[in-house]
Amino acid sequence: MSDFHLGKYGLRLLQNVLTDNHSPTFYRGLEKYLRKELQADEVTVKKCKRGSHWISVPFKVNVRTCNESQTLFVKVLTEKGLRNFNYAIESRNLRILILANLCGLRYKKAGSKQDVLTYEAATLMRFKAARICAPTPLKVFDTEFYSLLMLEYIKGTPLGGGILRQGDAERVLHVVKHLWDSRLVHGDIKLDNFIRTKDGSIYLSDCLNWTGSRQAAMYYDLASALLCLSRKLEPYTVLKIAHQFFTALEIREVLPLIDLAGVQLDALTDEDRARQIKTAMQSF
Ligand SMILES: Nc1ncnc2c1ncn2[C@@H]1O[C@H](COP(=O)(O)OP(=O)(O)O)[C@@H](O)[C@H]1O
Ligand SMILES: [Mg+2]
Repeated sequence: MSDFHLGKYGLRLLQNVLTDNHSPTFYRGLEKYLRKELQADEVTVKKCKRGSHWISVPFKVNVRTCNESQTLFVKVLTEKGLRNFNYAIESRNLRILILANLCGLRYKKAGSKQDVLTYEAATLMRFKAARICAPTPLKVFDTEFYSLLMLEYIKGTPLGGGILRQGDAERVLHVVKHLWDSRLVHGDIKLDNFIRTKDGSIYLSDCLNWTGSRQAAMYYDLASALLCLSRKLEPYTVLKIAHQFFTALEIREVLPLIDLAGVQLDALTDEDRARQIKTAMQSF
């Protein structure tokens, strides 16, 4: 087995151990809970394929009330998911601390399941207020066993899924520029957190709480965008697009952060691509 396949196998093993493997009873319980909370005649839930699944589990929810149907999105976070969340944050902070002095930039661990989801709901509202395209948060529910974040359902494909077009890269960097201009931070920029709809618009979701230097957090967002786009497009092409939105100086400032941006416990990071983008940046 090659190192890559071995890594992938190990990763899958780790994800299986960490993930809540919900039983049919769990699904029926969730449907019953939502039916009661939404005062609906019928609720059916279906697990979405994408997403970490070892932190929160995403569901497409169909709700029928008085012969009217609507589709919603729900993210379920259990105690196990919260523990994994805090572990992921800890490891990211450790890497930031070891590899760079980012003026005290730290991602915040959460005290409760609800903390994670209420922060996400409030931040999505902030994005929308700044006219950044994001799903509308509808409600946070809290039960003894899990917390739920209910969002507007976005019919589309996450950018991590298929082929990435140059236009998608332009839109992603445009969103990051929009975040910068609004002095907003996302905290977890990666392709799967952008959903492309049929009309080509992209929605941004799934953000992380942070503390410390706002500027460092904004640069970290840009570094993450450049790295994730460079996994699908040539680094040189990505840099050319980035220069439409950011100055040469701003892009140069991002260079030392490229190694940090690949921090993901639930995905194999591509060290070669990080090296290529740094080389492309130095010779741009
Ligand atoms: N509002 C939404 N409507 C439809 N699908 C969504 C929505 N938000 C997220 N998704 C899908 O669910 C996946 C996981 O959701 P996300 O919030 O990114 O959680 P995580 O990455 O922490 O598992 C996303 O990659 C995307 O494919
Ligand atoms: Mg996500």
